[in-house]
Amino acid sequence: MSDSIEQLSVALGDRSYPIYIGSELLGRSELIGPFIKQKKALVVTNTTVAPLYLASLEAALIQAGIEPISVVLPDGEQFKNWETLNLIFDALLGARCERGTTLIALGGGVVGDMGGFAAACYQRGMPFIQVPTTLLSQVDSSVGGKTAINHPMGKNMIGAFYQPQLVLADISTLNTLPDRELKAGLAEVIKYGLIRDVNFLVWLEGNLGSLLARDPDALGFAIRRSCANKAEVVAADEKETGERALLNLGHTFGHAIETGMGYGEWLHGEAVAAGTLIAAELSCKLGWLNEASVGRIEDLFVRAGLPVKAPKLGVAKYLELMSHDKKVQEGRLRLVLLESIGKAVVSDLASTEQIAAAIEARCT
Ligand code: NAD
Ligand code: GLY
Repeated sequence: MSDSIEQLSVALGDRSYPIYIGSELLGRSELIGPFIKQKKALVVTNTTVAPLYLASLEAALIQAGIEPISVVLPDGEQFKNWETLNLIFDALLGARCERGTTLIALGGGVVGDMGGFAAACYQRGMPFIQVPTTLLSQVDSSVGGKTAINHPMGKNMIGAFYQPQLVLADISTLNTLPDRELKAGLAEVIKYGLIRDVNFLVWLEGNLGSLLARDPDALGFAIRRSCANKAEVVAADEKETGERALLNLGHTFGHAIETGMGYGEWLHGEAVAAGTLIAAELSCKLGWLNEASVGRIEDLFVRAGLPVKAPKLGVAKYLELMSHDKKVQEGRLRLVLLESIGKAVVSDLASTEQIAAAIEARCT
């Protein structure tokens, strides 16, 4: 893989920001330095990522003339809550961070979502940089400014739209990612193909083996293409009044799985994969997808090593958990479904009976 850096942009007027994608970027002070205005920055990370990458990032900051301070959170989706969020505020206040101090989230989507939410809240908003280190966070969660913590009754229920000033995606960090986490990230990659980029889906069908083998060129391409798709959608609909909802294919069912099973039991990407198959099943029941298309989607997720059957929580439990979904309007559930492969829509056309039947059909 070449040393070149790919640069994409999230076009949001005077809040536009770049996404740098490449290998061995973490230690490069000239990339992150220009985005930090004060002499001190707080790095938020966790107990798994800190021993792997904190020193390298801190060295880059020091080289850029910035004093790094850090807070190391417990690792896991079950810690994406108020208590852990408060550890970030304790660190910010303890180090006398100001409104102009930059917060840097170094880690996967959990650290990114919590770091971003803390940045949105601290002194009503401080500068924020995303340094994503999982495939899922490099292709999805670090881009677009959704930040949140979970509530026991629902995933990502408390949060804010708050854009970073830079996304620095160092592909080399994926070398240490466990296989299960790599596969979970592929669920969000496949999502872009299904909702709006059929050519990418065809590429994924042909190159899945290279991605699973962590071929850097294949990973680089998939990350760039995913980020390009996401950046386009976010630029068109930052606050999710329309098109952005399509990025939630499989998520209404998936979030119910994560909450219903207890946070951390199913990885987010795994729950999205099983949820996407329920959405595909429902799209078939509505006469939009044929069975061959559902089979094609299932085949890709199976090859990616992702679950295509959801856990048996019971239909009533699914419906109760889904009733908290952020796309509910006036009490009516709206779901992201597939009109065809490569074309998603938000629809409230499915009846409760049809939704229940699709869940039943896709539960183990
Ligand atoms: P994660 O943050 O829990 O990271 C997965 C695991 O990998 C963790 O144990 C983490 O410590 C570890 N890890 C991180 N980087 C590593 C590395 N380079 N090497 C070894 N281990 C590493 O999970 P995730 O899949 O990155 O993110 C999932 C979260 O993202 C969920 O909470 C989900 O709701 C959220 N999300 C948010 C958005 C958004 O738009 N904000 C989009 C999708 C998902
Ligand atoms: N991951 C969904 C979104 O950013 O809108």
